[in-house]
Amino acid sequence: MFQRKAPMVKCTAVLFGLLASVITLSGCASDPDRIAVQDLRARVAPLTGQVAPVTAAEVSAPQAVLGRALFWDTRLSLDGKTACASCHTVSAWSSDARKLSINAKGQPTTLHSQPMFMAQDQSSLRWYGDRRDGEHQAERSITGSMGMPSAADMVPLLRRFGYEPAFAGAFPGQADPVNPANYAKALAVYQRTLRNPAPFDSFLAGDNSALSRQQLAGLEKFVANGCVACHSGPLLGGNGLQKFGITRDYWLATGSSPADLGRFNATKKEEDRYVFRVAMLRNVGKTAPYFHDGSVATLEDAVRVMAEVQLGRNLPAADVADIVAFLGSLTGPIPTHYGPP
Ligand code: HEC
Ligand code: HEC
Repeated sequence: MFQRKAPMVKCTAVLFGLLASVITLSGCASDPDRIAVQDLRARVAPLTGQVAPVTAAEVSAPQAVLGRALFWDTRLSLDGKTACASCHTVSAWSSDARKLSINAKGQPTTLHSQPMFMAQDQSSLRWYGDRRDGEHQAERSITGSMGMPSAADMVPLLRRFGYEPAFAGAFPGQADPVNPANYAKALAVYQRTLRNPAPFDSFLAGDNSALSRQQLAGLEKFVANGCVACHSGPLLGGNGLQKFGITRDYWLATGSSPADLGRFNATKKEEDRYVFRVAMLRNVGKTAPYFHDGSVATLEDAVRVMAEVQLGRNLPAADVADIVAFLGSLTGPIPTHYGPP
């Protein structure tokens, strides 16, 4: 546990490592906790990583400005009432508090909505990892969530609602810039600006007081229990595919009914049965309910389920509480440009 680090051992190590300075020495003598925090950071940094803040230039780039307008415009859909933001809401930190969302055809989505903040930095998109990148995802949304009969049907809507000048400005030199590929490109560029560094990034950058004592204890447990084996990298996930339910069928713990077959649905390959993209954990404290079907309402229960079905562990309540506290350090502020222009 975090509190039980032996400060003398660390101080000796620092001395023999010839890294000692007067400041570090006085730190050893007066502040054993600080040494423990530094040690934790040194172990965690190579497994995770910081998120870069967004720049004003990125936000004001013409393609990002256009993408923002498209993302919040309800008119660009079959029912004229559905925007991307309808299922990626501000109050749910760009995910959806509903288990399933309602699309522009009035039907529930098959899976639970995912957050936008930092999503574009993942290695593939969606629960099945079946979209290469933001462009691919956005272009497919036209006939998916937005309910249009074909991708080309988006073009007359864009013209009707006066988007021609913005497309021409964002894609200069193109003879016919109002097309589905550019719609998708602009949306992806906007979404790439939706980055929100959190206290965890300040911790990695060297701020010893960025995380509370309980959050530090939770981080220790997140590493010690093996969560970080899958939830690694700057997003703590989003970088690979894994079976959900390694030590026990997941639906026995989540109560999912029916059980979703995962990536198998997209590939029909036997090895993809019950395989899902490892969820990133950035902002996870704000994006309830949890899992691909929104079957679990609280983060406490989601952590318990993970320990049970991925690691075969029954976590004590205190450990669950510490890990949940740590996960709270991954919540950054809502980007100020996450809203209609
Ligand atoms: C009707 C609700 C709804 C609308 C409208 C909607 N989405 Fe989504 N979005 C979802 C759901 C549900 C998922 C998860 C789908 C899956 O994994 O199969 C998702 C997933 C995503 C993802 C993948 C995130 C990740 O972590 O992999 C991105 C990116 C995304 N949406 C962007 C958009 C954009 C851009 C639009 C507008 C063009 C849009 N969404 C419109 C419900 C919606
Ligand atoms: C073997 C890989 C693996 C391990 C180990 C693992 N996870 Fe996961 N985690 C996943 C996958 C895959 C998902 C997506 C499951 C789904 O919804 O289909 C996930 C989802 C989650 C979610 C839900 C995120 C969301 O947005 O719905 C949380 C929270 C989570 N994991 C936390 C943890 C914690 C805490 C641990 C350690 C106790 C852990 N995980 C261990 C692979 C893993």
